[in-house]
Amino acid sequence: MLPLAKMKTVSLSSTQLSQAKQLLKSGEVIGLPTETVYGLAADAANPKAIEKIFKIKQRPTNNPLIVHIANLTQLNNIAQNIPDYALKLAKAFWPGPLTLVLAKQNKINNIITAGQATVAVRMPNHPLALDLIQEFDLGLVAPSANIYTKISPTTKAHVIKGLNGKISAVLDGGECSVGIESTIIDCTTFEPIILRAGMITEQDINAVLVDQIIPSNKNKKSKIKAPGQHKVHYSPTKPLILLNKNDLQLKIAEFAKNKIPFAGFGFNQEQAENWIIMTNDPISYAQKLYNILHDLDALNIDFILAQLPPQDATWAAINDRLSRASHKQELI
Ligand code: TXA
Ligand code: MG
Repeated sequence: MLPLAKMKTVSLSSTQLSQAKQLLKSGEVIGLPTETVYGLAADAANPKAIEKIFKIKQRPTNNPLIVHIANLTQLNNIAQNIPDYALKLAKAFWPGPLTLVLAKQNKINNIITAGQATVAVRMPNHPLALDLIQEFDLGLVAPSANIYTKISPTTKAHVIKGLNGKISAVLDGGECSVGIESTIIDCTTFEPIILRAGMITEQDINAVLVDQIIPSNKNKKSKIKAPGQHKVHYSPTKPLILLNKNDLQLKIAEFAKNKIPFAGFGFNQEQAENWIIMTNDPISYAQKLYNILHDLDALNIDFILAQLPPQDATWAAINDRLSRASHKQELI
């Protein structure tokens, strides 16, 4: 693979949307704000631009991309044979942090779907993103704007920290309001199946789909592949250790005794210099999580410690991200 030429990454404000549009129309890749995390956007009708995304992110090409739309005309340009329950979900949660996996239209390029017959579609809840996306018949493809397996960005500054010189621009849309990636649902089967947990929970979905709910029988595995779901993901460069309250206190005492520099976050004050006390509301916790990981990762420390959150359904997406971010620790 050829090395990427260095370019100047400019920051565009909300009054510079036309410049962002121009860059995308000319086949450039830009940082795009959404309510979940910042995306790395390209015109879904331009395979050359989409190729750049894979190079910039160092993402394997067998990992398909989400197409972002702003209206239902675009949905029909992209997907076909959409089941009623998927339309119900779209009506209930779009624009919002929900991605639907559907049968793709033939004109959707294989590079987007990694050769699969399905396409993932989402309508993000961010005014700048929606304004831009409506200018493209097939919408904008956008994975999270981070290097593959690293922490996703929730501010313009995170995008620049990770991708400066590799993309032409980032559109500043402020801090993401949800803070972790969308819930992904396989809608190609008779009953929907969650492929990736997000802040729209199984309960939220079942409350909308009264007669066609997510099967509780966990053996009903989706046949669809979501290759981005491997174990090591969302990782800071410093090893993250996820512990219950007791083990956390033992680890803190051990680090203090051995003068090992660390930082961390949990639900109570601990005997530690760099310690962040988290809220016990999962919605605000999720909104801050990646920002905290980015900040702690930049400190001069050897480890990040995190207290295991409650194991109930409202924390499912947070627990999923934390356990992937900490996976390396299983080997230690
Ligand atoms: O909140 C989000 O979803 C963010 C923002 C930018 O919209 N995007 C995001 O994209 O998280 P990415 O590429 O980091 O994660 C997309 C996930 C990957 O795990 C990918 O494998 C899966 O969606 N995916 C994409 N297309 C798929 C398909 N056709 N079938 C199954 N999984 C798919
Ligand atoms: Mg990602």
